[in-house]
Amino acid sequence: MKKAIILLLFLSGTFTSKSQENILVNTNSTQIILKVDADKNLTFEYYGKKLNRIDDLFNTNTNTGADAYPAFGIRPDKTIAIRAKHANLDLTLVLKYQSHEVYDMDTNVDLTTIHLKDEIYPFYVDIKYKTFKAEDVIEMWTEISHTEKNSVTLFNYASAYLAFKEPTTYISHFHGNWGTEFTMEEFQLKRGKFSIESKEGIRSSTKDNASFFLGLGSALSENKGDVIAGALAWTGNFDISFAHDEFSTINITAGINNYASEYTLDKGKKFITPALILTYSNEGKGQASRNLHRYARKYKMVGGGEERKILLNSWEGVYFDFNEDKIIDLIDDTASIGGELFVLDDGWFGNKYSRDKADQGLGDWQVSKKKLPNGIEKLIDESENRGIKFGIWVEPEMANTSSELYENHPDWVLQNAGRELVKGRGKTQVVLDLSNPKVQDFVFNTVNDLLNKNPHIDYIKWDANAAISNYGSTYLSKEKQSHLYIDYHSGLQSVLKRLREKHPNIIMQACASGGGRTNYGFLQYFSEFWPSDNTDALQRIYIQWGMSHVFPAITMASHVSASPNHQTKREIPIKFRFDVAMTGRLGLELQPKNMTDEEKAFSKAAISVYKDIRPIIQFGDLYRIVSPYQNKRLASLIYVDEQKKNAVFFAYYLEKQVKETLPYFKFQGLDPTTNYTINEINKYAERKVFGADDKTFSGSFLMNTGVKLNLSNEYDSVILHLTAK
Ligand code: DGJ
Repeated sequence: MKKAIILLLFLSGTFTSKSQENILVNTNSTQIILKVDADKNLTFEYYGKKLNRIDDLFNTNTNTGADAYPAFGIRPDKTIAIRAKHANLDLTLVLKYQSHEVYDMDTNVDLTTIHLKDEIYPFYVDIKYKTFKAEDVIEMWTEISHTEKNSVTLFNYASAYLAFKEPTTYISHFHGNWGTEFTMEEFQLKRGKFSIESKEGIRSSTKDNASFFLGLGSALSENKGDVIAGALAWTGNFDISFAHDEFSTINITAGINNYASEYTLDKGKKFITPALILTYSNEGKGQASRNLHRYARKYKMVGGGEERKILLNSWEGVYFDFNEDKIIDLIDDTASIGGELFVLDDGWFGNKYSRDKADQGLGDWQVSKKKLPNGIEKLIDESENRGIKFGIWVEPEMANTSSELYENHPDWVLQNAGRELVKGRGKTQVVLDLSNPKVQDFVFNTVNDLLNKNPHIDYIKWDANAAISNYGSTYLSKEKQSHLYIDYHSGLQSVLKRLREKHPNIIMQACASGGGRTNYGFLQYFSEFWPSDNTDALQRIYIQWGMSHVFPAITMASHVSASPNHQTKREIPIKFRFDVAMTGRLGLELQPKNMTDEEKAFSKAAISVYKDIRPIIQFGDLYRIVSPYQNKRLASLIYVDEQKKNAVFFAYYLEKQVKETLPYFKFQGLDPTTNYTINEINKYAERKVFGADDKTFSGSFLMNTGVKLNLSNEYDSVILHLTAK
């Protein structure tokens, strides 16, 4: 909603000289500075803490002086953000500033648009900066268009280019594989190029996450140092590159991966690149994460202000092996331990090809008459009779070749004429062609019909368990086959947008063989992610630690699973498993029938504890205290509410060492002048780890001196609840 144009052309910023103008993009504490020179070149000069005097930047020569959106062709040998072939086949671009304006969208949000045009051709690039002032977050993207006689081909089309004159830079990024998503790695960037990217097509974040934390001038730490954090909001292939050049400048480009993706832009059409979400902190990574979390909850996700229900998901409890009675038992057990939502995972559909294994039925979204003779309606009723809600799993972008869908529409799957299909999961899984509007309608109708027929469905788990193989579309023309990676995602996003218009409030989880879709591009349609299929509580500490850098706790589905764990076979006590899962959106993923009575009783009590602290976890500010990645065999973190009146502290002993003396645990994020009463919660039997329940401590004592904890055995853990006195 555009409210008012508040500034036009050269009216913003200080004039550094007659012929040079500055454009300032401000949040409450940070600032991007761009400059227009006498020749109408637009340069990116600065991103960091808001300056008191802009002229200082230029007087001390700490400005960057790099092109704001560097184009290929005339100036040689540099990082480029855009490369294109004009209608007349010319390969060069020289972008010149034309004008800019700022829209005041509301008191907290502004949108600055800077218009650039090629000096010869009617080829246009608008650079967009959307600022979220209180959160110190800036979204940055571009819109490319032209009115040349024929189509133009785009080869490079970054969302953003940033440059810093800083020889010493460090990076934190998050990589992994199935079961190890969001593994954090930190190192110094050296001369040369470092890239994080996805080429998978569908599950864009299994291997590399589209996010980074860049330490400028010093190694990354939680509470100190200049940090730029970025996350690209794109559901498909991405590329974020860091190139240290011979001038000790670090050049950053971020955007859709141009891998196998030349894009023909027809006259009059707009190519809109996805937003790079940026934040700057001069107090280390912790503040940068908190900025992103606040922005995500308020602006980016569906239902960021609503408490999430505690759920039990059926997958690890029963996998494909269930019938109506078994599911009703699960619903019953969910309700009896205090759960608020039951989610039926894979296996509920398919009649000709019953979904009893992963090798058939995908695409046939009719309820299995064999397994669930009374339909989903019966399960919803059974849930509601017990006072809980019902949710369901779908994987609507996919088919098995053994499905009625594939029999009826073999042309709807990605394929290359004349070549045999490469198949994925179950040796029969193939991907639907989301570039095709008919397929988009099918996917939309699958979910829309399910929700319309069962308006009491409260939650959807949306899965996607394949990569793009069989690169080829029967829908796209021969000339536009190279649009596939991009048009798949434009198609998917248009489906998601339509669904959101019809069902604005339904809570949806994005899952893709675990954490393959933890990206802000999905978050605008979803409410949470399944971070990993690895539910081992010890390994989840590492995965969730990485994820907490970029996404808030409310988006982090964190489930207590069986012991021994199904992925690692590790045995971990029930308390530790709960204490880990309670740092995110708590759920369970097990067969309650296999729990001992003691475990069941503990689970019931733990769920009740979580209900009390849920607002602090789901809406509070996170302070990471002891990193599991520092090899201290410990991990610790705290959530503090906005008023700093309530906090929940967690600590874990990950690996026992004989005769080890553990350090004091120093809290963070509290008000030093407030006194807090501390109580240990979620205790197992009589075991006390803290030992000073109901005692009161000043915030400054807790943060500067800290407390001793009796973590004495491997997998000991503690949760402390702090309340201001
Ligand atoms: C992969 C998901 O990550 C799992 O949680 C589960 O939903 C299975 N798919 C079901 O096939």
